[in-house]
Amino acid sequence: MEQYAIKGGNPLVGEVEIGGAKNAALPIIAASVMTDETVYIDNVPDVRDTNVLLKSMQDLGVMVSRQNRHRYTVNAANIHSLIVDDDNIRKIRASYYLIGALLGKYKKAEVALPGGCNIGSRGIDQHLKGFRALGAEVEIKHGLIRASAEKLVGSHIYMDIVSVGATINVMMAATLAEGTTIIENAAKEPHVVDLANFLNSMGANIKGAGTDVIRIKGVQKLHGTDYAIIPDQIEAGTFMFAAAITKGDVTVKNVIPKHLESISAKLLEIGCEVEESDDAVRVVSSKPLRHTHVKTLPYPGFPTDMQPQIAVALALSQGTSIVTESIFDNRFKYVDELTRMGANIKVEGNTAIIDGVAKYTGAGIAAPDLRAGAALVMACLAAEGYSTVEEIQYIERGYEDFCMKLQSLGAQIEKVNSEREFQKFKLKIG
Ligand code: UD1
Repeated sequence: MEQYAIKGGNPLVGEVEIGGAKNAALPIIAASVMTDETVYIDNVPDVRDTNVLLKSMQDLGVMVSRQNRHRYTVNAANIHSLIVDDDNIRKIRASYYLIGALLGKYKKAEVALPGGCNIGSRGIDQHLKGFRALGAEVEIKHGLIRASAEKLVGSHIYMDIVSVGATINVMMAATLAEGTTIIENAAKEPHVVDLANFLNSMGANIKGAGTDVIRIKGVQKLHGTDYAIIPDQIEAGTFMFAAAITKGDVTVKNVIPKHLESISAKLLEIGCEVEESDDAVRVVSSKPLRHTHVKTLPYPGFPTDMQPQIAVALALSQGTSIVTESIFDNRFKYVDELTRMGANIKVEGNTAIIDGVAKYTGAGIAAPDLRAGAALVMACLAAEGYSTVEEIQYIERGYEDFCMKLQSLGAQIEKVNSEREFQKFKLKIG
């Protein structure tokens, strides 16, 4: 199995280009089936999750053609099946966006229950509640979510919790419902706004995305569009923290600094310098890192998808820090791996109490999930000596060219397939 071989100790220095946002691309790709006209989507990240979703759509009869690495045309005029079920689609959580999209357009959908990262139980009750409020019958049978409706009718929906996925799914279905839907307590994440902008560019009438209340006036049909996906907030944040952790100087380019504010604020708090320009942010880490407290929250709060990365930085800072995870219930699985590298972290429920140490030491570790996997790679890059990281398929679900981008910043990291290749890497690096 492929692993990363890493020799730590080099500060990451240089510029890195950030790709399109995975979590915006997934709903936008799914929503492209909502018109019979051709849709052009640009800035699609070339990662496993987007590729699996595009492939599953092809199996339904959707014409997908790749114009270049990041630009696709999608035409769903000849869909011949509304059943989405294959082994791969079960592995990606965003497969359930096809329910909202297909239910909106065809008033019927059957989609395998989602998988995705194993970061705790991930309910879908709010999605189902939203579809039912629009008039759909929904049942879960044989591992499939089945939704159908004679017609969808706009409704006033109050979400019991702030859910990115449920907001997106209900927004898609409501776009082609009769009348007006109001989603209260909606998620405000940049990718929710990006999907609303995409749908509006296809003729939808969605207002208020990015606030707690989204108003969707149903339209009869949508038309084609040419749309570029926003930059990935979490990929950018990951490289910003990579600078902090390795005592480096990294400029993330092609970003929307506004989306990175909660991340920049924490980096400033722990003693990094952060310089923003129109579409780039530079992070310099030249002083010892300071401890802080952080709690993950829905946007604009500190993102749960950045929790492992900040914990890896705090575990190298002076003093005691507290990290509280308020979104998912099992997101500290990486702590055991980090402890093996010398970190001093105690987890109690949804809180990690971190006593900073002076350094990590390299070890053989495994990525438990996407974001924690990336965070552990950064720990290895800061660590004394050599490390290997297994289960890198998790990381590649969501980071395009992760290894190459790190190499371009001076990281000593390579993909290896065997112990022999690891030994060769060691000999080469010296
Ligand atoms: C999305 C992101 C993920 C990110 C998360 C929070 C994608 C593909 N994934 O996941 O990277 O970590 O937002 O920013 O965009 N919940 C319920 N019932 C529901 C829906 C959610 O109980 O019907 C709970 C979940 O179990 C979780 C919390 O609500 O504890 C937040 O989930 P949600 O915002 O829906 O996250 P995802 O859309 O799954």
